[in-house]
This record gives sequence, C-alpha cells and structure tokens, in this order.
Amino acid sequence: MQTFLFILSCCFIFLFPCSMWADEEILSIYLTWQHHPQSTMHVCWITPQTQTQDLIEYQREGEEVWHREESQHRPMPAQLPYLIHRVELVGLMPSTGYRFRLGADKHIYKFRTMPADSNLPIRFVVGGDMYNGSMEMMEKTNRAAAATNPLFVVIGGDIAYSAVGDRSIPENPQKWIDWLRIWKQTMVTSEGYLIPIIPCIGNHEVRGGNGKTPQEAEFFFALFPTPDLKSYKVLDFSSYMSLIILDSGHAYPVRGVQTLWLKQVLRQRRQVPHKFAVYHIPAYPSYRSYYNKTSRAVRRQWVPLFEQYGLHVAFENNDHAYKRTHPICKGRPQKQGVLYVGDGAWSVANIRTPKTPRQAWYIAKSSATQFFILVTIDGSHRRMQAFTPAGMIVDDVVQEGFNK
Ligand SMILES: [Fe+2]
Repeated sequence: MQTFLFILSCCFIFLFPCSMWADEEILSIYLTWQHHPQSTMHVCWITPQTQTQDLIEYQREGEEVWHREESQHRPMPAQLPYLIHRVELVGLMPSTGYRFRLGADKHIYKFRTMPADSNLPIRFVVGGDMYNGSMEMMEKTNRAAAATNPLFVVIGGDIAYSAVGDRSIPENPQKWIDWLRIWKQTMVTSEGYLIPIIPCIGNHEVRGGNGKTPQEAEFFFALFPTPDLKSYKVLDFSSYMSLIILDSGHAYPVRGVQTLWLKQVLRQRRQVPHKFAVYHIPAYPSYRSYYNKTSRAVRRQWVPLFEQYGLHVAFENNDHAYKRTHPICKGRPQKQGVLYVGDGAWSVANIRTPKTPRQAWYIAKSSATQFFILVTIDGSHRRMQAFTPAGMIVDDVVQEGFNK
C-alpha cells in the first residue's frame, strides 16, 4: 500500500505539473494556406521562446499511424519572448479531417482540407476590421462566425489594429498577443475543427497605414506566410473557385506591378466558375468620400479588370458599416456587373452611419451594424448572408451564373 501511495504521489508531482507546463506552451495555433487548399495545410503556432521543438505529428481521422514533420521557427517581432513555428503539410487528401499534435503538447487538434470539387455546398466567412473594440466584442463575433461551421474565414484587413497612421510609432504587440489568444480559443467548429484564416492586409497592419513597405508591417509578414514577402496572392480551390487577395496600397502600391499581376491572374482564370477578390479600402465606400485617393485608384486600376474578366464579387472593408452595391459595370448599375460587399465591421467600437441608396447611386443596401458575411457556393449560386454578432440577419442576396 505504501509503495502504491508513493507511486501515486510521484505521478502527481511529475505528471501533473508536466501537463500543466505543456498546456501553457502554446499561446496560439492558427491555420492558413499558401497553396492548394484541397491538399495542403499551413500550420502555425506560437510558443514561449524557450520551446524550440518543431515537431508536428499528424494523421488522417481513422488512421492509426502518425506522420512526422518539422516546422521552422522564427522569433516574434519586437523582441517578444515567443517563437512563431510554421510548417506546410502537403500531399493531404481533399475534404478530409486530420488530427495533429505539437511538440510536447499532447493535446489533439483537428483540421479539415477543402473539397476537390463543389458537388456539395461550400461555406466560408468574410469580414474585416476586427480587434478595434474590446476583446469581449471580438470574441462574440468570432464565436458567432465559428458557429456557422465555415470551412475558412477571410479577414479583409485591420486584423489586430496594432499599427497607427504615424510611421514613427511602433506596432502595439499586445494587440497581436490578444488577437492570437482569442483566435485559438474561439475559431473552432462545433465538431472541433480549427478554422483556417486567409488574411488580407489593411492600414492598421502597417506603421503609417498607406504607401509603405513590408518592413513597416513586421507582425503581419512574420505571422502569416506570404509568397516572396508579397501581401497579394491568389488561392485556387481546385478548378471551382479562386480567391484573389489584394493590397489596397498599404505595403504595396495599387498601381504598377500589383495591377499587372492582377490582370494576368484574372485573364488566366476567366473560366473559373466562382471568382472573388478581397481587399481593404473600398472602390465604392459606404462612409468615406467616393473621391478619396485610394478608392479612386482602385476604381481606375482594378475595377476595369474585374469587369473585363468577370469577377463575381469584391469584398471590401475599412468603412465600419455594412453595404452591398448594385452590380456595377462601367460606372453604373448593370445586371451583369460586379457586386461589391463590405465594408468591414467585424468587431469595431466606432460603427459608422453609411450612405443610403438615396445618397449614393451605387448603394443597394446599407446598415450601421457590426457583421460578418457567410458565403455559400452551391452549384451556380453564390449566396451572401450578412449576420450581426447576435445572429440577426442584415442582408441576404443570391447571385447566379458562372460566366458573364
Ligand atoms: Fe482600415
């Protein structure tokens, strides 16, 4: 009996503190994609700087064997005492659940890959302008968005609000720490799958806001894998959907190289059934002036390409209100035009009163509210539903047809 009690007390002394220690290792875990969402997953996690172990083990649900992979880690910017671990898992099966565990942390996490085709409805969430208010406010919208069980979430800029308009003021690291922690706690589906994020850059990721370089957006580029340090990219979901992420003049200019790249990307995807763009500053602002410099640049540089190559929907942000435009082509409402939906109020404290349909020719619907947009792809339908964090429906619109 004494031997048994001795062994039991050893278990408490050694095992319990050990598991507590392991749990505290992981500040955050988030998933994203660089390539092929049907066959890859980019797993990122944040640990204290003492935890240099890069091992990730993963398996298909129902599989017995664990596959091993090593991540690479880098220090967190601003000399924060954390490491960012990142690894891209490749060769995964489409539409499949996977389990994984990280280093010494034996907790099992789960993700699922995207389908290889769109035979079943595909749901994802879009929103922007996130950690502007309180943590509780962000947590509420996160949980409401996660409750819709989306396959991923696109955030159209102003994610953690770490940077301000003055280039000489450093980013506020605590904003990213809070954001990362809350994301891990909230962005999980009812079946326990972590929800991948597709991030887009906004002015509050960049010291100075606009007209700057990646060097002024240190956290964004450190936390999220970006091709060649570019804040614009295209993600092709097999051959059924393309998502074009753009930088509306924050770390890269709107015109020039990015616009040439956009033209090539759209031209190559003319036949893709569902084409979306996401960027921060709206071409058709719901609150700010129609004539503001960036909106004019977006209308002059990108909008003609959207129209020429049949983009279906552009998701816009930054104005802190809900809006949906009429379908627009050549500067006026037209049935076969491009739809612009936004304008970024995921969890902002300063919701603005948007222009009404009477006040702006392009506005079809607007509302002063926090919201996220649930997008459902079903056959040739694209349904956009805007919800408040309390689950109230703000807007519900269906766009039909593959080609224009
Ligand atoms: Fe913004």
